[in-house]
Amino acid sequence: MYKKRLFLFSAVFSVCSFGWSPAAAQTNPLAIPPTLEGPTYDLVMRDTSHVFFDGIQTATAGFNGSFLGPTLIWNKGDDIQINVTNNLGEPTTVHWHGAHVSAENDGGPHSVIPDGTTWSPAFEVMNRASTIWYHPHLHMFTNMHVYQGLAGMIIVRDDEEAALDLPREYGVDDFPIVLQDRKFDVDGQLVFQPMGKGLVGDTYVINGTIDPILDAPGQVVRLRIVNGSSGRVYNVGMGDNRAMQQIASDGGLLEAPVALTRIRLSPGERAEVLLDLASDIGDTLRVVNYASELTNGERGGTFAASTPLDGVDSTLFFVGVSDALPGAVTSIPSNLTTITPLLEADAVKTRPMIFNNNELGQPFGINGIGLDLEVVNEVVNLNDTEIWEVGNETGDPHPFHIHMVTFQILDRDGVAPPENERGWKDVVFVYPSEVVRLITKFETFADPTGEFMYHCHILDHEDRGMMGQFVVVDNSTDATEDTRPRTGELLVRNYPNPFTDRTTIAYSMPSRSELKIEVFDVLGQRVKMVFDGVREQGDYETIWKTGDAAAGVYFVRLTTPSQVVSHRVVLAGGE
Ligand code: C2O
Ligand code: CU
Ligand code: CU
Repeated sequence: MYKKRLFLFSAVFSVCSFGWSPAAAQTNPLAIPPTLEGPTYDLVMRDTSHVFFDGIQTATAGFNGSFLGPTLIWNKGDDIQINVTNNLGEPTTVHWHGAHVSAENDGGPHSVIPDGTTWSPAFEVMNRASTIWYHPHLHMFTNMHVYQGLAGMIIVRDDEEAALDLPREYGVDDFPIVLQDRKFDVDGQLVFQPMGKGLVGDTYVINGTIDPILDAPGQVVRLRIVNGSSGRVYNVGMGDNRAMQQIASDGGLLEAPVALTRIRLSPGERAEVLLDLASDIGDTLRVVNYASELTNGERGGTFAASTPLDGVDSTLFFVGVSDALPGAVTSIPSNLTTITPLLEADAVKTRPMIFNNNELGQPFGINGIGLDLEVVNEVVNLNDTEIWEVGNETGDPHPFHIHMVTFQILDRDGVAPPENERGWKDVVFVYPSEVVRLITKFETFADPTGEFMYHCHILDHEDRGMMGQFVVVDNSTDATEDTRPRTGELLVRNYPNPFTDRTTIAYSMPSRSELKIEVFDVLGQRVKMVFDGVREQGDYETIWKTGDAAAGVYFVRLTTPSQVVSHRVVLAGGE
């Protein structure tokens, strides 16, 4: 039974590109996750099983249900509380990806929810109307937990979006579409291969459904597409190559719809699109992953093809079009919102963020090191506008994601981004040797102990440490800023000194150059690799959380191509 289905799938993928009638297909209705409305939301994570194939129970994990979780409806301005209970038998965390929340509510790797406990973040919804999502974020286990089925969509609503004549009736003319791929063994069980080629599955799973068909009315409909896969890039288009109208990116509405025949989504990215189905009543359309057009090492393209889906154009789901509904949206608005550009002239700092090798020589670093939860790599001043210059010295493209803020893309290799990347984003795909400059303003959640993450959103890469941490600090209340005049010298100091649990290493760069920051003990052994990248001229801080390092004297050494400075610091004994 199962083998026969597999055969049918490959027939669907290889033979039916054109003119093939889906009426003969063994399709399944596309699952539409239920919604949860606030102000209180209850999510329970548990091991369970899900029916991907008729008659087969596949072991999975889910939020409330058997694969993925309910779609949470958030309203901007509401005070909400989410009770997240972990019954998985192991620890995890749950992160609100794209949410503008404090570090304590963000659900990053620090907010571990032990098995059998409930975590209850509570906050005001500050986001614009947008499609965001949630997923576990435990360091080294994110990929596995998401793979088993732990992820869900969040729809944020606000008054501005509500005033537009857009489809927004969930499951009626406004549809969640979570794109994932999985690998199954001959018994229909999920195969998880954390390392190497297992990054891409051999079967598309859309909202937890294999070979799905979406029943949609013959009118303007909205698809909220999330790339929720571990590593696969999706190049979404319609089977008949008609244009889709993209109306929103990660962080909300674009200024105006952008007509596109292809929308490329790297892991973590979202797009909302409108399709006008008024003249398709009675027809069945296809939504296709045009994987043959993927280039530049994009996973799921021909590069290192490892599954039958790679590099091949194949159907993600069918759309069966029925009659229009009363009150249907019949036209596509020409203006959506106003996006006020953040100005490069307002940026007080440029931070190069380079995907490259970590301190072990593996290609899973950012600025020369992998994630170290005892290092807060970047300290940002409250209300500063900054440019982050994301580079890529590896051979693979990586999606760069920042927690808490949304950003605007200034340019890709000096060229303005395509129109559908001119709105608010929280993930940007960065190709090998490309430099993407993004700009954002850090206006909230100043807290020197509130760590936020930035990372590659290929889940296997983030698990291997392609991630760093930043905090926002309010220097208007903290008179520690270095006011010494610039001398052309590399300067370093730390505060407090002596210290017990953490110290801030403050330094001034006389000019843009390479820089290495290391901590050594009195025997000359390196105990911490803090930074190995590029800095602009200016003042910077990084925080060393001493963990279980022994009390004593240490030396912070800064090395540039022209100078080496070493600074003595004292880790005091226990309390
Ligand atoms: Cu969707 Cu830090 O992640
Ligand atoms: Cu996130
Ligand atoms: Cu990566």
